[in-house]
Amino acid sequence: MDNITVGLGERSYKIFFGHQVLAETGPLCRDLKMGSRAAVVTNPTVGAHYFEPVRASLAKAGFTVHRIEIPDGEEYKNSETLKGIYDRLIDLGLDRGSYLVALGGGVVGDIAGYAAATYLRGIPFVQVPTTLLAQVDSSVGGKTGINHEKGKNLIGAFYQPGLVMIDVATLDTLPEREYLSGLAEVAKYGIVLDGELFDFIFNNTDKLLGRDTESLLFVIQRSCAIKASVVEKDERETGLRAVLNYGHTVGHAVETLTGYTKYKHGEAVAIGMVAAAKYAESMGLANKSETERIITLLKALRLPVELPEFSVAAYTEALLRDKKVRDGGLNFVFNKGIGGFHFARVTDLSPLLKTGGIGG
Ligand SMILES: NC(=O)c1ccc[n+]([C@@H]2O[C@H](COP(=O)([O-])OP(=O)(O)OC[C@H]3O[C@@H](n4cnc5c(N)ncnc54)[C@H](O)[C@@H]3O)[C@@H](O)[C@H]2O)c1
Repeated sequence: MDNITVGLGERSYKIFFGHQVLAETGPLCRDLKMGSRAAVVTNPTVGAHYFEPVRASLAKAGFTVHRIEIPDGEEYKNSETLKGIYDRLIDLGLDRGSYLVALGGGVVGDIAGYAAATYLRGIPFVQVPTTLLAQVDSSVGGKTGINHEKGKNLIGAFYQPGLVMIDVATLDTLPEREYLSGLAEVAKYGIVLDGELFDFIFNNTDKLLGRDTESLLFVIQRSCAIKASVVEKDERETGLRAVLNYGHTVGHAVETLTGYTKYKHGEAVAIGMVAAAKYAESMGLANKSETERIITLLKALRLPVELPEFSVAAYTEALLRDKKVRDGGLNFVFNKGIGGFHFARVTDLSPLLKTGGIGG
């Protein structure tokens, strides 16, 4: 199995990649000298497919395994579900010689990671991401947390996993829109950080849409390597790590305005990336053909690229509620050509909205 290291001193860890490799989870946890008891946090959808192979592997490696199931859905990434996890950990009598395994998408990974960060002031945890978004983004880098009724991801901690186990075979059962939404995040790495990755996706869209194993292994590994190198330089997002928010500022506004129901996260990010790319072009950071290549790629990946119709006032209000707003200005990430980025502070939002094509 291939692996790469996220180098963070004593908090360093490895990301393993392979096809049908869940059976390796137990031996890898044993190598890491994890405690004797493992609590696998999952949801009914993912658990139905993948709990048993993970359980069997952990049990064979000598661990006592418990199952903690949380309901499926972003709306359950909250303090009530978190309390349910704590209750089960306490009832099971799990002590510091235990660890958590997050088996699922970004929702399970974020909440289980935060439970691990806080239970008994922190016990180790392992990420076994099963969505493409979680495999290329949320399982790496240590952002954990839950939503608050007043906003997403408002409560949380930076807490790195002990290892990340990526089995691309788990993507076989992922619903199509979830899969395409993950591809938007892969495209993001290409657009702002890696022109070669962009070209690979551009030249292999059919294979990627067909979930070809070799192509997937390549883009997932490359995306994780990029994310690892960014996190190594700026673990707590004081600067560079914000590049990963490319497309997310407008994307969040789109999600807010459409009540988080119309678009998947990656779809909203695709729309946001196009708005950012058009704005970058108007600033002379990219040329027309580069912008067109970006739009062509996202369309080929069956992602939306048009801003939904809302007034400029509605967009402006949604944008200014963003976490990245300071003193009325937005800290914005632009692409520089393809494969590069540029940070700029945006105080006048109208060009962004105009180039995004919003009327009235
Ligand atoms: N921590 C970070 O750095 C970070 C980064 C990006 C996003 N996130 C968070 O990630 C969350 C979104 O994650 P997501 O897109 O993975 O959504 P998700 O976890 O809700 O998963 C999407 C759906 O797919 C199902 N599913 C997962 N794996 C499956 C599989 N292999 N087969 C069949 N169904 C499967 C899930 O049950 C769910 O219904 C958000 O809460 C977001 O805030 C965190």
